[in-house]
Parts: sequence; structure tokens; C-alpha cells
Amino acid sequence: MIHQLFARQTGEDLVYERIDVSPEDLEVTVRGFGAAGGKGLNVTAPHKQAVFELTTERAEAANRAGAVNTLTFLPGGGMRGDNTDGVGFMQDLTVNHEQEIAAKRVLILGAGGATRGILAPLLDAKPAEVVLANRTLARANALVEQFKESGEFRACEFDDLEGQDPFDLVINATSAGTSGESPPFPTSCVGSVSFCYDLAYGLKGTPFVAWARKHGAREAVQGWGMLVEQAAESYQIWRGMRPDTAEILEKLKI
Ligand code: ATR
Repeated sequence: MIHQLFARQTGEDLVYERIDVSPEDLEVTVRGFGAAGGKGLNVTAPHKQAVFELTTERAEAANRAGAVNTLTFLPGGGMRGDNTDGVGFMQDLTVNHEQEIAAKRVLILGAGGATRGILAPLLDAKPAEVVLANRTLARANALVEQFKESGEFRACEFDDLEGQDPFDLVINATSAGTSGESPPFPTSCVGSVSFCYDLAYGLKGTPFVAWARKHGAREAVQGWGMLVEQAAESYQIWRGMRPDTAEILEKLKI
């Protein structure tokens, strides 16, 4: 629906549909789509790293994330991978929600694909401190190692956050919400200074946003804006023009 709204707004002719594919069928489906005349694909969980491996060339954002969410079929049969998650997230956080990151204390919950997409641009914005907490410490440590060229941050388990002062920005990048849960981290991390951002979204709200509001966050928002902004970045890659996202967000009333 978002891409159809972009096409209507920019006067372009576009067909954008969903394809449900298992990991086993991913490669043949992607190649088949390109061979049948498809121009590009967005890629979502759990395929972003697998599609990275299929690309013949990659934008810097894809290389830094180690994941692809935007694929463009090139004349001659190649595939170019890009990643618009990070820039979409930053656009929503800093422009739509007018949040500063420089010199702020940031807590990221989760160390999976969603975190991988946002880490590099977040570190570029020079926060005072970034803490990456995850249920499985080894996965968080692996990201500290992988992203060390982008900036310094530390990894820990949720329990290690006990007694921490409230963070300025708390980002939920776990998939706990899909099972109706908020990640189990200490309430001391959230307070009246905290802007809480859930990368997830749902028509009925998300458990993390509800949890953050209940525990006194300054503000808590779902990731609808990131969804629209990353889509606009993909649209620009494919069509050479960036839609006016404010108009679309207003239409979607999210
Ligand atoms: P995605 O692409 O959505 O990030 P992922 O790569 O499978 O998906 O990562 C899911 C993240 O959510 C991981 O950080 C995972 O923690 P583990 O690394 O310990 O598996 C986290 N996660 C999933 N369910 C969770 C839950 N109920 N509580 C806390 N963290 C959870």
C-alpha cells in the first residue's frame, strides 16, 4: 500500500506485491523474479543476509550492515544490493520525531537483523554511549566486533543493566513482540528522559511501547515511520525520486 501511494503521488506506474518464500526457495525465487522482468525487490526477515550473498554489487550501506533490504536487477543479469533500513530509521527518529542523538545515551535491545540495519548510521551520529543488550550475549559481542570500525559500544545481557540510570533513547530491536512480549530488561533503564522507539509496529500497538509508557517514558513510538521512510529510500533507488513521506504518513494516520 505504501508503494502504491508513492506511485500515485509521483505519477508513476508501479506494481508492488508480496511474495512469501521459505529460505530453501529464496534463491530460485529471487532469480526467477528478475528473469521474468521484475525490476527490484524489497527483502525482509529472515532473508536479508541470504540475499546479501546473492548480490553481484552492493552499496556501502549494505556492506556496513551485512544485510540487504533493497535489491535492484541490473541489465546483464547482475543484482545490486542496498540497505535503506538505517537511513529510514534515522530519518524517522531525527526528522519526523525530532530527536537528537549526538551526546545522548542509547540503549539497543536485541542483536539480530534489525539491529544490524540501524547500528552504523546510529554510531555515525556520535552518541555519548551505546549499550547493546541481548538475551544471548555472544550475538551482541559478535556485533561489537563486526561494527568496530563504525564506532565503539559495549555488549551485555539484560540483567547487567540493573541499576543503570534511564537512557535518553531506548530502541527495541528484538522480535519479542511477535510473541506478545516486551524484552525483559530492568525498569531503571526507562524514565522521564527516555524516548523509546520500537522498530516493530502493529495495528493494536506493541508490547514494548505499552511497557515503556507504563514505566514512565517521556515518549514511546512504534516503527511505522521507519517503515514508510525505508520504503521511500527504496523507491528513490528504483525510480530516482523520493516521495513526500509526510503526506503518506498523514494519509496512513500513523
Ligand atoms: P530480526 O531480523 O527481527 O532482528 P533475528 O535476527 O532472529 O530477527 O533477531 C531477533 C532478536 O530478538 C534477537 O536479538 C533475539 O535474541 P537472541 O539473540 O537471544 O535470540 C531477540 N529476541 C527474540 N525473542 C525474544 C524474547 N522473547 N525476549 C528477548 N529477546 C528476544
